[in-house]
Amino acid sequence: MKLRSQNWFSGVSLNTFVHRSWTGAQGFSRDVFDGRPVIGICNSWSELTNCNAHLRMVAEAVKRGVWEAGGLPLEFPTISLGEVLVKPTTMLLRNLMAMDVEEAIKGNPIDGVVLLCGCDKTTPAQLMGAASADLPAIMVPGGPMLKGNWRGEEIGSGTDVFRFWDMVRSGRLSEEEFCAIESAMHRSAGHCMTMGTASTMTSLAEALGMTLTGCANIPAPDSRRMAIAQQTGRRIVAMVQEDLRPSQVLTRNAFENAIRVLMAIGGSTNALIHLKAIAGRLGVPLELDDYDQFARTTPLLLNVKPSGRYLMEDVFYAGGVPAVMAELGDLLHLDAMTVTGKSMGENLVGAVVHNRDVIRPRDEPMATEGGLAVVRGNLAPRGAVIKQSAATPRLLRHRGRAVVFPNRDDLLARIDDPDLPVDADSVLVLQNGGPRGAPGMPEWGQLPIPEKLLRQGITDMVRISDARMSGTSYGTVVLHVTPEAAIGGPLAAVRDGDWIELDVAQRRLHLDLPAEEIAARMATWSPPEPLYQRGYGRLFLEHVLQADEGCDFDFLRKLPDAPRDDVAARFAKMGHS
Ligand code: FES
Repeated sequence: MKLRSQNWFSGVSLNTFVHRSWTGAQGFSRDVFDGRPVIGICNSWSELTNCNAHLRMVAEAVKRGVWEAGGLPLEFPTISLGEVLVKPTTMLLRNLMAMDVEEAIKGNPIDGVVLLCGCDKTTPAQLMGAASADLPAIMVPGGPMLKGNWRGEEIGSGTDVFRFWDMVRSGRLSEEEFCAIESAMHRSAGHCMTMGTASTMTSLAEALGMTLTGCANIPAPDSRRMAIAQQTGRRIVAMVQEDLRPSQVLTRNAFENAIRVLMAIGGSTNALIHLKAIAGRLGVPLELDDYDQFARTTPLLLNVKPSGRYLMEDVFYAGGVPAVMAELGDLLHLDAMTVTGKSMGENLVGAVVHNRDVIRPRDEPMATEGGLAVVRGNLAPRGAVIKQSAATPRLLRHRGRAVVFPNRDDLLARIDDPDLPVDADSVLVLQNGGPRGAPGMPEWGQLPIPEKLLRQGITDMVRISDARMSGTSYGTVVLHVTPEAAIGGPLAAVRDGDWIELDVAQRRLHLDLPAEEIAARMATWSPPEPLYQRGYGRLFLEHVLQADEGCDFDFLRKLPDAPRDDVAARFAKMGHS
């Protein structure tokens, strides 16, 4: 098999002289261009992405494995997206990172690629880009942080921050104590160690078959993280020789496995958007109703925050993703191909659960249904999502009057106003938090509880928006209302005092108004002014799809029957420039 990289490095010509001479200037012995596979190490390392800040070390371990197996490792950066620092939201830039990953892989002399990810968006962005490039690819997540611990209490990213902050706002925790928790909560390398979006997406990368078995949940500082990175380096060289590509791994069956695992682990609502976007890159059909169908028939097994009590370190000790998948057993497509070159079923041989309180048995689950549910109705004709495993059970069926905030600025200005006409039965509604409205669909969906209610001991209310929510968040929060308010979805018609009904068991979200009244209100509606007039923001506004379509750009989805865009095949015509 002629390697793709040989188009750059093999033979005697002006071009190959240039490629070998300049690349070799890094100090490589010239025999590294002897036809060995070139392995790109796609690194989302950045000191602005704290969760990925240790990935240079992981890359060194990958390189050891690549050299051992007879490959040539070449590490390259892409933009990186750190959840806590990037404003206004990393979701605005996920597609940009995916484009960066795709074009970097396609434009360079790469035969196979190892994807190094961690923080929330870095995982789906790399999978989207690698799926579109469709060269042999394998993923090594950086792993979760060690558990936080404050005064003997184990505490987790996000989930406990929100809890402690509400305690500060209600006067039950001092600001001094709150600040002391900062260094006790995040104390090692790695990504958030609750079942937030990072832990969800890295676990799903493994469930999709895109990592070595047992890779996703190894804590970042654990020496086994480096060992599996080295093994991954060896494996990608073999994958190039086998020509095993993402399109052979990321099949409909693989996505069904991932959705089963998503439901069993109580994963982030954000996964619905990301899985849809990844599937769209390969033309794999995946609908919002698929998620709901699997939610109804998959038990919630994982007892981890925000749906339970443990943290990702405990999940790893209990057996991690392989143990969860072994427990799901016949609910999965065990014949799905994986990057190991074996089926998922073969990978799972020997996987056992070591702690039955962390990973529950199927006949004694945390809940008989999966963590997420899709609701529909005249308020969300194309669907909305709720993480029922992290909601208050009595609020899953609720009728209340709307308190409406037309945008985030208005919410922040009025939510703690003592005169806000709100009580514990009210339904808080945020408009214009969606893909085009915000824009970028930020994690604004867990609307804060009004301070005057917090002081009465109210800790949860029904909240509805077209925004997203951090995977570490909790509460009775309806998200991703589609179509969003900013493109004229019915959410834009809601006014203060309207009655709203939520019934999760019936999968219903209803605005109790006659259709004629909703139509009359929308007849006088006009869209918000676009925030961006130029640059990437304008590209985003013109091309982003709705939440139920994965929020990818319309032009990045796989076109039916389109041939692979193979730069190497066009190489001879392009020449050197
Ligand atoms: Fe990076 Fe939470 S901030 S995973």
